[in-house]
Amino acid sequence: MIVKVKKMKLEQAFKDYKQLRQMMYPYRTATHIIKAKLESIDDELKCENTYSPIHMIQSRIKSPESIIDKLERKGYPKTNNGMKCLNDIAGIRVVCHYINDIQYISQLLLLHEDIRLIKKSNYIDYPKESGYRSLHLVVKVPIYTKDGIISVPVEIQLRTIAMDCWASLEHELYYKNHYTVCEDMSRQLKECAEQMAKTDDKMQKIYQQLHNKTQ
Ligand code: GTP
Ligand code: MG
Repeated sequence: MIVKVKKMKLEQAFKDYKQLRQMMYPYRTATHIIKAKLESIDDELKCENTYSPIHMIQSRIKSPESIIDKLERKGYPKTNNGMKCLNDIAGIRVVCHYINDIQYISQLLLLHEDIRLIKKSNYIDYPKESGYRSLHLVVKVPIYTKDGIISVPVEIQLRTIAMDCWASLEHELYYKNHYTVCEDMSRQLKECAEQMAKTDDKMQKIYQQLHNKTQ
């Protein structure tokens, strides 16, 4: 029943629901391409150094329901043109082991000539007010369709295991208790983020010491 109501909402928003579904295919392909590139970078480094900087890669495509919600929230038209204003329909999260891996992986990815950087937000050197840390890239990837080449945006979030741990828990706490998280809790969460950032720095130094020893 709920599914039916949601589908009706989508059908009202996008006159041609089938067209909306068809529009999702290039985002899926773009996600596969970026994921394959990241896996290849990791593989190359692993073969060279027996060290794999990427701990985990996750990907997701925004559901049609979330797309409609976001278009409404941002005041964009619920049309194909409105969808083109969203950069995060395709999203990839890259969780790295150490903090220096983040810049290295992003530099190697941007060496690929078919990848075009659209936006870079460095929430590691400049954390968000909440304490959130990650490096965000929006890149465009060419996708070959039967009607020609289209350029598809993908949002890539790169972070350490510690940053991912914090972001997941903070999201969990806010998501479930949006109206009851008070100012003091936000302050405590920010402190946790700062402690985790210190741990990331320490872990990087330990890795470096060990690496120098074994060289
Ligand atoms: P949106 O339109 O909301 O996507 O804003 P934006 O394009 O400026 O995106 P932004 O750079 O703020 O990053 C958005 C994404 O980063 C979110 O969907 C989350 O995954 C993540 N993010 C940003 N801020 C926070 C935060 O304070 N806590 C957590 N847990 N995640 C965050
Ligand atoms: Mg976003």
